[in-house]
Amino acid sequence: MSVFNRDAENEVTRGARAVIALPDLGRESRRDPGARLDEAAGLAEAIGVAVEEKLHFRIRAPRPATLFGPGQVQQIADAVIQAEAELVIVDAAITPVQQKNLEDGTKAKVIDRTGLILEIFGERAATAEGRLQVELAHLDYQAGRLVRSWTHLERQRGGFGFLGGPGETQIEADRRLIRDRMAKLRRELDQVSRTRSIHRERRQRAPWPVVALVGYTNAGKSTLFNRLTGSDVMAEDLLFATLDPTLRQIGLPGIDKVILSDTVGFVSDLPTQLVAAFKATLEEVVSADLLLHVRDIAHPDSEAQRADVEAVLKEIGVAETTPRIEAWNKLDLLGEEEKAAVRAEAARREDVVTLSALSGEGVGALQAHVAARLTAGHQRYTIALDAADGAGAAWLHQHGEVLDQRVEGDRIDYEVRMARADYERFLSR
Ligand code: GTP
Repeated sequence: MSVFNRDAENEVTRGARAVIALPDLGRESRRDPGARLDEAAGLAEAIGVAVEEKLHFRIRAPRPATLFGPGQVQQIADAVIQAEAELVIVDAAITPVQQKNLEDGTKAKVIDRTGLILEIFGERAATAEGRLQVELAHLDYQAGRLVRSWTHLERQRGGFGFLGGPGETQIEADRRLIRDRMAKLRRELDQVSRTRSIHRERRQRAPWPVVALVGYTNAGKSTLFNRLTGSDVMAEDLLFATLDPTLRQIGLPGIDKVILSDTVGFVSDLPTQLVAAFKATLEEVVSADLLLHVRDIAHPDSEAQRADVEAVLKEIGVAETTPRIEAWNKLDLLGEEEKAAVRAEAARREDVVTLSALSGEGVGALQAHVAARLTAGHQRYTIALDAADGAGAAWLHQHGEVLDQRVEGDRIDYEVRMARADYERFLSR
């Protein structure tokens, strides 16, 4: 992704060697620092950065200038030299001033968690809309970081200086350029989402239920999606392997057509700019009939990840009343005893299915569960149709489960199980 004045000195390049520094501010104590560092490493590897060293620091009093204490900054600097690294990734949100000071103190480029996630999203966005949204989020992030001296900016921005009005400082001019670019992006996005909503309206006229897969990054959404659809979505041990929603049509026991959508993996501390920007991309999730929350039940922070996902769902406007099923995935990674305990807990809950998307164990039960939830409230109706009414018969097959049909002269009696809303729609046609 290229932004007109993208700070060349902060460009993250593929193959860069990096040191990750995790500041433990005490608030995150419910999380396992090792797992958190692994996640950060996974995020970095997702954009081709080679992680050479992972450091974990307990921060008693965060320093406004550097976040870390002087001894800790020195330790990071030493690790940079040791690993011949050119990049330091701070797994937290840091201020622009802290970023600058840490760069001075470690003699390396420094990016924070927000910057890292934005990089990944920038690389992974595949649709026009995804790209526009990421650029918008990136600019928003950048606008808040324009605190460097203007000479520095002017050096890399080259020819743009003339756009500034008389007396305007360089930073103001930069801000204005960013604002203009953001306004243009918003207009383009508007256009794209209008087109999308036209598509969606068309689909709503053939109302198939939509099931949206959600879950923390690396929980196994794509693997499960592939199991359920028999397709080949990129499933990798790369965080955020999928960014734009993928839609597929699948059949489930007793339901002819269901739209299944695979969405971006959620992550803790998702940059707010991105949550806002991705609302539109995640609209399949917002309007879904059922959420299938895939959880890595073998992960030490599984519970915290669940809370993160629920928080993002709330933030993007998913109603609490939207039915949810939790798919407790990666059961195969548990030992026998743990597995039994997890299964027992799941059995006590109505909204939980245990499975292994990798081995396929439990996937059939999940399908049955999803189908049962989608058809809950469906009733059996007897509908008489003119034998020549092919369109009516097709409609019944599409929207309900035809249990029986009897030919009575020039009339056919159908026994159909379907939603009450569909039955009423049929009567009024
Ligand atoms: P994002 O795209 O980052 O959101 O990830 P995702 O949730 O789509 O996860 P994905 O399906 O890409 O799986 C992540 C990793 O977990 C891959 O290496 C999968 O092979 C692995 N995985 C998925 N399901 C299982 C499972 O049931 N058992 C085991 N052992 N590994 C699994």
